[in-house]
Amino acid sequence: MWITPETIEKHRKVTEEKIAPLVNKYEKFFEKYNIKAPSNDLHKRWFWKQVVAYDMYHDLLFKKKNLKILEIGGGLSFLTKRLADRHDYKVIDICNNKSKSIDQSFFGYNLKIEKSNIVKFNDWFYNPEHILEHYDIVIANDLFPNVDQRLYQFMSKYKPYTKQIRLSLTYHSMNSFWQVKTNYGEHLTIRPWNVSMISEFLQSHWEFIDGKENVWSKYEDMKEIFKSDTNVMTVRMNF
Ligand SMILES: C[S@@+](CC[C@H](N)C(=O)[O-])C[C@H]1O[C@@H](n2cnc3c(N)ncnc32)[C@H](O)[C@@H]1O
Repeated sequence: MWITPETIEKHRKVTEEKIAPLVNKYEKFFEKYNIKAPSNDLHKRWFWKQVVAYDMYHDLLFKKKNLKILEIGGGLSFLTKRLADRHDYKVIDICNNKSKSIDQSFFGYNLKIEKSNIVKFNDWFYNPEHILEHYDIVIANDLFPNVDQRLYQFMSKYKPYTKQIRLSLTYHSMNSFWQVKTNYGEHLTIRPWNVSMISEFLQSHWEFIDGKENVWSKYEDMKEIFKSDTNVMTVRMNF
């Protein structure tokens, strides 16, 4: 699904009814235990993330139970707690925010739900013990390919170990770029993925895509909705 002004309006009512109450409920839970939950804050601030959450997780939040789920770069939000309570749910997150408080939040959170090893702090590439398991669903929401450009590598690594992959993918306009400085003082100019790169990726996995008819149908009239020139789509693949 393309996250456009139209799709946001189309899903506004159901998202307000289903997702917003969960964001608020777990915000109180996190506050009560003095746990920082940055991803919950983002869902609170940006309604479009709630629409994405409805699209990607609603069956897992309200209908299905006891699935074996791995989330890559899950952060900490209402989704973490709700999914951990309903499913055999694990998260791999690099936690690269320098603030130790986020690490402590994760640990505190682990204690509160009384399940150990829910969160693995690492780059997803280095998790052999997670990779050796088989999952019903592997999810990566708001990670590829702008935060992490290794989308193809991720697919090759996890596809053999799951029945389904759910992704939200971000892309930028054709000429977008940014500059970063390495530890060695070198300036790198990074071009984030644009729509043609996303298109190439989807085509390379076309046979697995669920609901193909909705994947591209909105593209022609799509407007960029975020000031930062970030656009978002969601996709599911079955293997
Ligand atoms: C933009 S946030 C999205 C969080 C959450 N999925 C959401 O949609 O609100 C990206 C998350 O991915 C994690 N992350 C970034 N690079 C990662 C990597 N290489 N391996 C694992 N997690 C990573 C970050 O720590 C952060 O929690």
